[in-house]
Amino acid sequence: MMKILITGGAGFIGSHVVRLFVNKYPDVTIYNLDKLTYAGNLANLTDIENKPNYKFIKGDIVDANFINKLFEEHKFNAVIHLAAESHVDRSITNPLEFVYTNVIGTVNLLNAAKQLYKLDSLKFKMFYHVSTDEVYGSLGDTGLFTETTSYDPHSPYSASKASSDHFVRAYYDTYGLPVVISNCSNNYGPNHFPEKLIPLCISNIKNNKPLPIYGKGENVRDWLFVEDHARAIDVIFHNTKPGNTYNIGGHNEWTNIDVIRLLCKIMDKKLNRAEGTNEKLISFVKDRAGHDLRYAIDSTKLQKELGWKPSLQFEEGLDKTVDWYLQNEEWLRNVTSGEYQKYYDAQYVKR
Ligand code: NAD
Ligand code: TYD
Repeated sequence: MMKILITGGAGFIGSHVVRLFVNKYPDVTIYNLDKLTYAGNLANLTDIENKPNYKFIKGDIVDANFINKLFEEHKFNAVIHLAAESHVDRSITNPLEFVYTNVIGTVNLLNAAKQLYKLDSLKFKMFYHVSTDEVYGSLGDTGLFTETTSYDPHSPYSASKASSDHFVRAYYDTYGLPVVISNCSNNYGPNHFPEKLIPLCISNIKNNKPLPIYGKGENVRDWLFVEDHARAIDVIFHNTKPGNTYNIGGHNEWTNIDVIRLLCKIMDKKLNRAEGTNEKLISFVKDRAGHDLRYAIDSTKLQKELGWKPSLQFEEGLDKTVDWYLQNEEWLRNVTSGEYQKYYDAQYVKR
């Protein structure tokens, strides 16, 4: 039976990737390795936690001894690596944590994968590294990031992800490790931790709290529904050859202020508030340091070569996302209070 290790599977995107793979490939065992930081939450996976082809392992990718032993024991056939510190604002206050997890953690996984590949190059099939469009830096009013755009990271977060991407490519060039990298635009959807713009504002609108918009809200992001990202990872993982890179994005650019205005409108209706009520919560605050102006992805390569395309328009996806948060009040309450970590600490499988 094939064994795939997914790292960071208790987080936002990871949980959608784990669910897709567990349900779609019953003959493959999916190991979810996660440290359960503030961003990791096993409540994201209650619907699949008892499936026979799913196993959870609590652990830290920064711990090289632990990682080496884990790979020796399980002899995974592939790795899909999502574990990371992922929030730009946190990287500004604590950059070193991003170096540990995003750079050193990735190199630890690469070393362990390299050992398995050396042992049996036919059995170790793929090290799939999930990265971000933020490594490309910031665009002006025009242009799109392609797979050949030079790296130009500006935040400690994007610098740490760029560094990890370079290490992944170096392991392909130097040791022949079969790797693939995808760089995706901003995701949104269910299970997104409410420190990021969209879930934070959904939570604040619900609770009649101010909606903090950095600067003038003119920064542009290219939004993709999280399940479309998970599908893209599946398509790439199963169809590409080692050494390849794909950009993933939905050609869906919005300024932050327009995203929040649309969200206010959707939630006026859903919360039975008079039109324009929620917009009054918008509050312009001090800009983020080094705030990238615009991200926009050209995903032509992925669409042409592998036939992937996004399934949802942004308006529809945002509507669906709001419904999920309104229907999952307990999830939101628990992550905002930190209660989820105490509860699940008792449940993880100890090494
Ligand atoms: P997230 O913060 O929601 O989840 C990260 C997960 O990694 C959490 O479950 C956390 O517990 C785990 N983790 C963190 N440090 C760890 C460690 N040292 N050892 C083991 N597990 C650890 O992040 P996300 O938004 O789901 O992003 C997942 C990946 O996708 C990241 O690599 C990120 O860079 C990338 N990405 C994110 C976006 C986005 O819009 N969120 C876009 C493109 C790429
Ligand atoms: P975020 O969700 O943190 O994702 P990223 O920084 O990875 O793009 O932020 C999305 C955009 O929203 C970004 O331009 C920063 C902005 N933003 C705000 O205006 N206010 C906020 O409170 C947050 C968290 C983000």
